[in-house]
Amino acid sequence: MRSVNFLIFSIILTIAAAFPAAGQKPSNNKKQNTRKPAPAETIPGRKWWKEAVVYQIYPRSFKDSNGDGVGDLRGIIQKLDYIKSLGIDVVWLNPIFASPNDDNGYDISDYRAIMKEFGTMKDFDELLAGMHKRGIRLVLDLVANHSSDEHRWFQESRKSRDNPYRDYYHWWPAEKGTPPKRVSFFDENGDGWRYDAPTNSYYLHYFSRKQPDLNWENPKVRQEIYSMLRFWFDKGVDGFRMDVIHFISKDPSYPPIPAEFGGDWGKFYGSGPRRHEYIQEMNREVLSKYDVMTIGEAGVGMQDAHNFVDADRKELNMIYHFEGVGLGYLPNSKKIIDPAGWKLTDFKNVYTRWDASFAEKGWNTVYLGNHDQPRMLTRWGSDAPEWREVSSKLLTTFLLTQRATPYYYFGDELGMSNIKFDRIEDYRDIESINWYKQIKEAGGDLRQFLESQKIAARDNSRTPFQWDATTNAGFTSGTPWLKVNPNYKTINVAAEEKNANSPLNYFRRLARFRKANPVLIYGKYTLVDAPNESVYAYTRELDGRKLLVLLNFKDREASADTGFDLSRAKVLFGNYPNFSKDGRLKPYQAVILELSK
Ligand code: GLC
Ligand code: CA
Repeated sequence: MRSVNFLIFSIILTIAAAFPAAGQKPSNNKKQNTRKPAPAETIPGRKWWKEAVVYQIYPRSFKDSNGDGVGDLRGIIQKLDYIKSLGIDVVWLNPIFASPNDDNGYDISDYRAIMKEFGTMKDFDELLAGMHKRGIRLVLDLVANHSSDEHRWFQESRKSRDNPYRDYYHWWPAEKGTPPKRVSFFDENGDGWRYDAPTNSYYLHYFSRKQPDLNWENPKVRQEIYSMLRFWFDKGVDGFRMDVIHFISKDPSYPPIPAEFGGDWGKFYGSGPRRHEYIQEMNREVLSKYDVMTIGEAGVGMQDAHNFVDADRKELNMIYHFEGVGLGYLPNSKKIIDPAGWKLTDFKNVYTRWDASFAEKGWNTVYLGNHDQPRMLTRWGSDAPEWREVSSKLLTTFLLTQRATPYYYFGDELGMSNIKFDRIEDYRDIESINWYKQIKEAGGDLRQFLESQKIAARDNSRTPFQWDATTNAGFTSGTPWLKVNPNYKTINVAAEEKNANSPLNYFRRLARFRKANPVLIYGKYTLVDAPNESVYAYTRELDGRKLLVLLNFKDREASADTGFDLSRAKVLFGNYPNFSKDGRLKPYQAVILELSK
């Protein structure tokens, strides 16, 4: 019996060695209990979260199991085999905690309870177990810069000036006059302070007036957050994406915004004096005790990015930046489209600079879509019927061949596109609705705003997932909370399953291909033919292998001046059946080549 066990054990070891993966899915993520990651061998600093493809699910829009028009946890449970079939490693779920949904779950009223519309804690436990059973890790969303105004802490805090929870939030007593200027990103009048009569004081809210900012200066607040994190980690959750985590520290004297920020409030909010101290404390007290991944939403510059993620800083694993997704809008505008469009050279420049910055230290991330961005196809590819499939595959190729952990947004694997609402009444997002009100109030150009929203609005990527050609795309048997994109009749999972060349099957193949080729994960990145305005070309090199990625971002033929002899290159992957060895690329053609030594 012993020797049989030993034999099985050695077979497992052999299989594990044959499939290079840094660490395996722990059944319990407490650090002391996990198996040591596979030895680094030729690649220093290997980590499972560097090798992962992350799939982001917006739970409200994925699958409704009970016909109320809102996606839910049981809906995700029903679709676990689909998720597994994608070949992804980690699922990031947008907030699933109790919330009055002023900002779709980014306003939490109880951090330890599941949102009623999404289900129960029992559903959650089943979901987590179902993911782990399939070797998928689960990352949740930590929204700790602010809570909901319906959180018990705030309900207490606003009662009286001497309430024990008073200092859980930022208050300004009205007898001191109007508080120093702070802007709100979502408030309909743009003011970051809100007057609250019961205590004759103002409270601070960087986002909507139903999202008061928590006071991290108060050690009790920090301990509440750490204890809540432990609660979820002890359940087996594998990590957190941390919402606007760079905003948590505020100078309680609320000084005026310094001139060096040029009126950029986001940048100013992200530069609070004690932000790194707090994150280091969180790391020391909680994160370091578990084998989990952490990713900060932090629109900061490159230098500060390193301060958040370099291993010796003991803060987070990764952050995501906004330089790429910010291209093509008029500066400091409400995402008004620049009529000049965006230039591929600027796009390349951003991703190349961020790669270079992390070449030696830290680790990079890459994304083109998420719940705050429009559909990547409409924004960076082409949603015209003739280019939809190829350009969607082109963008997938870009995302899965960068030296960075890719964050891939649900529905992008189908080539879903922006819904492009004509009327403000169709929008559900507080950002679009309140920006509209502000522009209207100021007598601004509403037509220009609505046109830009067709490209830029967040609701474009929040429309229900398209499962099949039945009513409401198979998302719900009821009335969907947000309209379904009418193109669901042709763009849906059922149709794409049947087609070996669909964007869906392309994504599946490429996710596996990336994993089987560590050169695509860890290999050195070098931009080729930098000034080319049509083709994005780069090499990836590791252990004597050299791959060349060619991406034609235009709807016409183009070629790149790579300097390599392509006639001897081997085609490893591509979105067209053929690659012309003279290097000419078809519209939106993407190809991965192996260059011979
Ligand atoms: C982050 C979230 C966004 C939310 C905001 C306020 O940017 O990604 O969806 O509206 O924070 O929590
Ligand atoms: Ca539901």
